[in-house]
Amino acid sequence: MAALSPDAILLTGRVAVVTGAARGIGRAIAETFAAFGAHVAVCDRDKPDGDLAMTLDVRDPVAVEVFAQAVRERWGRVDVLVNNAGGTFHAAFADTSPRGEQILIEENFTQVTGMIRRLLPLMGGGSSIINVTSSEAHQAAPGFAVYAAMKAALESLTKSLALELAPRGIRVNAIAPDALPTEGEERVRERMLAGGLPFDPARRPPLGHLGKPEDAAGAALFLAGDLAGFVTGATIHVDGGIHAAGGWRRMDVSDSQLRRTT
Ligand SMILES: NC(=O)c1ccc[n+]([C@@H]2O[C@H](COP(=O)([O-])OP(=O)(O)OC[C@H]3O[C@@H](n4cnc5c(N)ncnc54)[C@H](O)[C@@H]3O)[C@@H](O)[C@H]2O)c1
Repeated sequence: MAALSPDAILLTGRVAVVTGAARGIGRAIAETFAAFGAHVAVCDRDKPDGDLAMTLDVRDPVAVEVFAQAVRERWGRVDVLVNNAGGTFHAAFADTSPRGEQILIEENFTQVTGMIRRLLPLMGGGSSIINVTSSEAHQAAPGFAVYAAMKAALESLTKSLALELAPRGIRVNAIAPDALPTEGEERVRERMLAGGLPFDPARRPPLGHLGKPEDAAGAALFLAGDLAGFVTGATIHVDGGIHAAGGWRRMDVSDSQLRRTT
């Protein structure tokens, strides 16, 4: 039996694109990929750092086209695409306007299909797409209904594309994070607390502590490279056991406070 080479974890010379890489999980993934030898192209609404870095909104198809052209001119190919950008606000479904809903759909779903559509022609056999979803894709998420539905759509897309792209040797997987404190995650939590929602900030996942963005980066590093060469259509839950526990109820939906504050 042949042992794996320790080098199998490396991404030496691979071209990796990471969206939403100015902070949080995206930045941890981009920095980890660079540390393991990848050339990293990053984009974000805020200024990101990388071998090729662009400030843009991933919902803007013209800006994405410019970004894709720059990647093509610099390296001529993409080996790893991480669709990490995404986000949400807290609101009861009944209070979410059609415009608010559209924003959540574009922010968490159509920008991903747009990015994949644009970069796929640069991807060949052995390359890897990683979609960052959420544990909310796998459970009821009161106050986040449209966001959770879009993350669930991304999970479904991940599996369908895994099969469509398998004949081309392109793998497609997902990472479903939760309880990884980041600016984005904290902002949502603060708004929930400010709204008086019965959210317990002291609650911990089954592992007994919160995670960190680097925990998601470890999963992304595995999925990006040769160690995961036979892994496609899979989701890695980076959540300290929340998914295994059947979800992590952020609030008691029977509580009248939810109806009062939303
Ligand atoms: N942190 C968690 O525990 C957690 C839980 C569930 C899901 N997620 C998912 O992980 C991903 C990263 O989240 P995070 O916690 O690091 O959040 P974050 O808000 O701290 O970072 C997100 C980054 O993406 C960028 N971004 C967002 N929308 C963008 C857009 N339209 N165009 C360009 N850049 C954009 C932001 O500017 C920011 O730099 C998101 O998709 C989020 O839904 C995170």
